[in-house]
Formats: sequence, structure tokens, C-alpha cells
Amino acid sequence: LSVKKELEKILITAPSHEFEHTKKDLDGFRKLFHRFLQEKGPSVDWGKIQRPPEDSIQPYEKIKARGLPDNISSVLNKLVVVKLNGGLGTSMGCKGPKSLIGVRNENTFLDLTVQQIEHLNKTYNTDVPLVLMNSFNTDEDTKKILQKYSHCRVKIYTFNQSRYPRINKESLLPVAKDVSYSGENTEAWYPPGHGDIYSSFYNSGLLNTFIGEGKEYIFVSNIDNLGATVDLYILNHLMNPPNGKPCEFVMEVTNKTRADVKGGTLTQYEGKLRLVEIAQVPKAHVDEFKSVSKFKIFNTNNLWISLAAVKRLQEQNAIDMEIIVNPKTLDGGLNVIQLETAVGAAIKSFENSLGINVPRSRFLPVKTTSDLLLVMSNLYSLKAGSLTMSEKREFPTVPLVKLGSSFTKVQDYLRRFESIPDMLELDHLTVSGDVTFGKNVSLKGTVIIIANHGDRIDIPPGAVLENKIVSGNLRI
Ligand code: UTP
Repeated sequence: LSVKKELEKILITAPSHEFEHTKKDLDGFRKLFHRFLQEKGPSVDWGKIQRPPEDSIQPYEKIKARGLPDNISSVLNKLVVVKLNGGLGTSMGCKGPKSLIGVRNENTFLDLTVQQIEHLNKTYNTDVPLVLMNSFNTDEDTKKILQKYSHCRVKIYTFNQSRYPRINKESLLPVAKDVSYSGENTEAWYPPGHGDIYSSFYNSGLLNTFIGEGKEYIFVSNIDNLGATVDLYILNHLMNPPNGKPCEFVMEVTNKTRADVKGGTLTQYEGKLRLVEIAQVPKAHVDEFKSVSKFKIFNTNNLWISLAAVKRLQEQNAIDMEIIVNPKTLDGGLNVIQLETAVGAAIKSFENSLGINVPRSRFLPVKTTSDLLLVMSNLYSLKAGSLTMSEKREFPTVPLVKLGSSFTKVQDYLRRFESIPDMLELDHLTVSGDVTFGKNVSLKGTVIIIANHGDRIDIPPGAVLENKIVSGNLRI
């Protein structure tokens, strides 16, 4: 009850032009918070989790083998591409939207996305639109940049996800005292995860507009996943289902490696496909959950979802996503929680959902500067906004790169490489401490470079390091 009162107090501080939309946000938050208070105990019963049946996760090759119909343009014209663009570049030391970080030849995530879709539209003479789900953190900066694409053959739309109040961990009351989100209130609000897409997209009116235009599916993905291009075979599979039964939700999954412990996995639960995240797993079963043999795949967050189904479920209030409780400590030291949901968790609410096991190349996320080094290097070539692994690399595996904390911020990282080394023959790179790389360095096999505290290692221009450990202030 006291939360309700606090939320009302916040709402009356909203200027009239923000009132409606603040009210919607706070109502949405109240429902989520209410559910959070009601739901006690684990969100899944481990005993009920089963391996998904054979045909519920299909190999991509099988989908591809069906080929493409002659009318692929008309199929494409029923698609809308949605990129999740609510996140900031903070983890890579950048201010502003993550999508505006330069990732390859000065191109940002957003540039590459626009190039990809423009290429598609030009090749097939189609009008696939791009929709960005922004948050209050990214909307202004993103919109400023969009003018840059006004001459491109891609119609770009944006909508905003909700803005929810962070909650004091002790009192369970909102931290915010009014609706503003600057000054004292900068840290009082948050975007509640990408699961917010269903209600925000619906509330924006765009969902209905697209249905009215004859669009049938959205392809949703993280804007920082450079492998998430429009796949014509998957789209065709959806539009022309082999058994005639339309599939409302496709989750692209890919095989786990030992390094992939983070992503959720698809399971069979009460007769339906369900995404289970590690946070939902009881402690005693965490190792079993992480094992590569029992749960072989993880969610790439590349999702294909029927617009009509979203509309139906949204109107029935039937989209059910587990609440993720995300604890944070604010700059001033205050412990808060933020309640979030994840877009893939809704799979269980849709009919006839399907997993497609796609090649790893469709999952190319850039979360750290180590990932950035890979995508900037000659391991990949760039064509029409898409990155493909260079044919010159003998094995199609990606090297394991671990750059130390001196490289965390993009600015520091860029300063430390005079040019990006040749990495075609690299398997493993670990760099720690104060290290810089001169021009045209080649890294091959396993290379470990460790500058101890107080030392600095400058790899000279043109150096070829092959299966080498460089440490201390050793000269090479
Ligand atoms: P993150 O970078 O936060 O997620 O967002 P992650 O670490 O991969 O883990 P998951 O996917 O949450 O499990 C992934 C994408 O979702 C967007 C980000 O901008 C990014 O493109 N996002 C995230 C939103 O649009 N809104 C949010 O509230 C959170």
C-alpha cells in the first residue's frame, strides 16, 4: 500500500505532457512489483524440467535445406526488424547508447544494422523497416543520429520502453521522489529489461500499425550481436510452415561451449518450451545445468515472433515472464533492486514455438573490448554491414581473447593498439597490465603478455609473436 502512495506522489510531479506516459509506466511497474511480492519460492520446479523433445529444436541445416521460394520478396515484406537498443555502453567505458560505439572501420553497431537492412531492401526490392526499442537512457542520442540515415533505403522507427523506479532494498520503497531523472534522481530509474518489448511495442501503437500494413513477424535481437542478420531460410520456414501449423515464436539457439555459462537454455516444462536462466536454478543443480552434455544449447536472443500472437496475448494479458531481481549499489552506496524481465522468457506463452539450432556465427556479441578486438581484426571481413569469418583462417573457431583491465575502456583499448594485429592464426591471447602494440604486429598460436605492476611492455612494430610468453619488462 505504501508503495502505491509513493507512486502516486511521484505521478503528481509529472508535467502535463508527460502525465499519461508516466502513469502507464508506473502502472506497469506496480503490476510487476505486486507480482514480485506475491511470488515466493523458486520460479521453476527442477523436477519438472525436461530435455526438449527431438523435433522442438531443429537443426538450422534442415531449415536451410528447404530452400527459398521464388516470391521471397513478398515474404520479406511481411517482416519487421526490431533491435533492442535500450542499453548504454557503460561496461566498455563509454557514455551514451552502446549502439553508437564504433566497431569496425568507424562504423557503429547502428551503422552496420542499417547497412545490412538497406542491402536487403536493395537486393530484393523490398521495404523491410527497422525499429529501435530505445530507453530513456538512449532515446535522445539515438534520435539525433538517425538523421544520418535519412537517405538510406530503410525506414526507421523508434519507440521507448518503460522507465521504472528503482526500489530501496531495505524499505522496498521507490528511491525517486519525483519524475525527473537528472540531478539527484539520475540513478533512481531504470529500463526494466528487454522483456518490456511486448507491452511497450503494443502501447506505442506500432504493433497495430504494422499489422495494418500486412506485416506478420518481427525479428528481434540485441543490437550488439553483429551476427544477428535477417535469415531468409528461417523467415521462409515461418511463413510457409511445413506442417501448415503457424509457428508463433522461434528462438535461435546455438551449441554451448564450456565458456558459455551465462545464457539461458531451452527446456521442456509442463508440455511447452521454456527458457530457463541460471539464476532460476537451485544451487544443488547448477553444475548439472551448466553441463554441456545435458543442456547442449543456449539462447542467442535472436527471436522471430508473430505480430498477431503478440497482439492477442498482450490483449489477454497472457504474456508470462519470470521476474529477474537485479540488485545494484548506487554511487552513493545505497542498495537497491530493480525488477526486470527478458524477452525470451515469454516463449512459453506462445503456441507452437520452436528452437532452431543455428551456427555460432549468428551469435557474435560485443560485450567487452576483447570481443571488439576480434571483430575489428582480419579474422572477419565486412560486406554490406555483415561480418563473416575470413576464409583465410584455417579453423572456423574464434580465438579466446582476454584483455586485462587496462583495456576495459574503449578509449584506453584504442590507444594501446597502433593498429589491430594480424590474428588469422591466433588461438589464444591473454594480455595483462600496461601493454601497448605497435603497428603490424602478428599474433599466432597462444600468446600471453603480462606486464607486472610498475612495468610496461611495448610490442614493437612488425613483431611476430608465435606461441610466446612475454612478461616483466622483457624485451623481444
Ligand atoms: P544486455 O547487454 O544488458 O544483456 O542487453 P546481456 O548481458 O547480453 O544479457 P541478456 O541478453 O539480458 O541476457 C542485451 C540487449 O538488450 C538491450 C541492450 O541494448 C542490448 O542490445 N536492452 C537491455 C534493452 O533494450 N533494454 C533493457 O532494459 C535491457
